[in-house]
Parts: sequence; C-alpha cells; structure tokens
Amino acid sequence: MSVKNQIKAELKARNAILVAHYYVSGELQTLAEQTGGIVSDSLEMARFGQNCDADTIIVAGVKFMGQTAKILSPEKTVLVLDNQATCSLDENCPIESFTKFCDQHPNRKVVVYANTSAEVKARADWVVTSGSALKVVQHLHANGEKILWAPDKHLGNYVKHRTDADMLCWQGACVVHERFRADALLAFKNKCPEVCVLVHPESPQEVVNLADVVGSTTALINAVRDRKEQTFVVATDNGIFHKMREVAPHKTLIEAPTVGVGANCESCAHCKWMEMNTLDKCLKVLKTGKNAIHIDESVSKKAQQSIQRLLDFTA
Ligand code: 13P
Ligand code: SF4
Repeated sequence: MSVKNQIKAELKARNAILVAHYYVSGELQTLAEQTGGIVSDSLEMARFGQNCDADTIIVAGVKFMGQTAKILSPEKTVLVLDNQATCSLDENCPIESFTKFCDQHPNRKVVVYANTSAEVKARADWVVTSGSALKVVQHLHANGEKILWAPDKHLGNYVKHRTDADMLCWQGACVVHERFRADALLAFKNKCPEVCVLVHPESPQEVVNLADVVGSTTALINAVRDRKEQTFVVATDNGIFHKMREVAPHKTLIEAPTVGVGANCESCAHCKWMEMNTLDKCLKVLKTGKNAIHIDESVSKKAQQSIQRLLDFTA
C-alpha cells in the first residue's frame, strides 16, 4: 500500500483528522482535504480542531499550531509531525523575558500573535492571528486601551500604522518574511507595472508599502482567486502556491525577491520548519502515537481564555 493510502487507513482506524497549514507540502495539503480535514491559516486550523469530533488531531505545521490545537481541545490527543518544527517568532520570545517586559508595563493590554508558546499566550490578554490582528487592535484602541504587542515587530508596526493605536512592540521577526527585499521588488514592479503585489504583514514595512494587497494567508489566496490581474508577485512562504494554483490555475504566480536589486525569482521564501512536515513522518506518528503535545494544566487554562477571546470576537 502507498504511504498515502496507509495514512488514510490509519486516520480512519484512530478516528483522527489531519489539519494542515498552507505552507506545508502540496501532498499533505491534498491529503488533509481528501480525508475530511482542513488546509487553512492558523486561525481556522485552531477553530476546526476545536469543532471536529475526532479523538486525535494530527497537525501538519509548526509547534505553536499543535499547542493551540491542544489548548482548545485538551481532551483530544494532538500529534505534530516533527517536534523540532518551530518558528523564529516563538523561539525569540522566551517566557522569562516576556514576563519582565509585561511587568514593566502593567497599564497595557497584552496582545500576542498566535506564533508564540503556550506560556506566552497564558500571560496575554488576547491572542491574535494575522487575519484578525487589525480588528482586535482597532477594537481595543476604540476602548481607550494602550497595547503591549509581541512578538512580530513588522506585523506590530503594520497594525500600529493602520490603527493609530498606542503600541509598544517586542522586536521579533519571521526569518522567512524578513528576507523579502523592497528594492528588488520595486525594480520588478517598475519593469512589470501590471502585476499585483501580495504581501503577508510579517514582511518589513518597506515591502508592505509596495503591496496591492496585505493580508493573512487566506486573504492572499482569495485575492489571487478574485482579482482581475493575471500575474501576482507573492511575498509569503511559497508553500501557499499550491492552494493559489488550485483556486486560479490560469494565473501566473511569481515569488517576491529575497535577494539583491533586480532579482526576481531567485527567492528562498520557504520556512525550513514547515518543510520538516512529510508524509513519512505523518504515517510514523499515526502508527506510534509519538510527538503528542502536553501542556501544563494551569498554563493551558489561562492560554485557552486568551485564544477563546479571539475565537468569540471573530465568530
Ligand atoms: P497565517 O495566520 O496567515 O496563516 O500565518 C501564519 C504564519 O506562520 C505565517 O508565517
Ligand atoms: Fe514562523 Fe515564519 Fe515559519 Fe511562519 S514562516 S512558521 S512565522 S518562521
């Protein structure tokens, strides 16, 4: 039996569901959809896991996505494909220094991006995703709240400029998005002005400034499907091209440049941690039950409140 068919059989036998992020391989994305699971952005991954009635959730993504699934479904078994698959935003926001930062600013609402550890989420008032950050901060700002934001400085700056909120930002960054280059993108735009530029807000501000559309992974996929342009330059992880090609097979997709002036397709826009997710590892964890996520109960309960606040707000 092929690996794919073995996975299908194991998913059935375990009453398990496969939940995949848009950045993992196309074959894992297809398998998730073929077996009743979902491919989505981080917000919908969390929501789907909570609402499904499977006993086991298999998360094809990175550690924080597995932890979020476990926090929202503590009674379910949550397995990740590789327990070394993490995220630079999560890694560079350790709970000890983050707690100190928060303690220094007790008058601010603590808003953290989903790309953080369970402990950091537990210290926060709100968890947001790229698809919900603007709305949540707008809401808090309208209520007169000052904000402490972590960990992504680029997303934080973007939200700050768009909402005019008083935001104090942790200085983290995504190693993938931070490498997109505004000078090379501008050169490309000047050469081909008819292209539509799509940018994930984890990118530097100068890159965001060149965008026709700024948004979460889902928003960027919808833009390719709905907009009239034929060619799109995409500043986010290139794993997203799988879904973009599916929704708009006749459109042309180009990776945004991550190297010097005048470069275009020579990008390395791919997350090494998302790359760690493979079909073989999926089969292995299903067979062995390895890589189960465990979170301290008191941490989980606190983190659950700040994630649930987001889910209720965006329902
Ligand atoms: P989305 O919430 O837009 O899916 O982004 C998650 C992520 O890790 C982006 O790098
Ligand atoms: Fe983290 Fe960036 Fe990888 Fe997303 S692409 S998981 S933000 S390192």
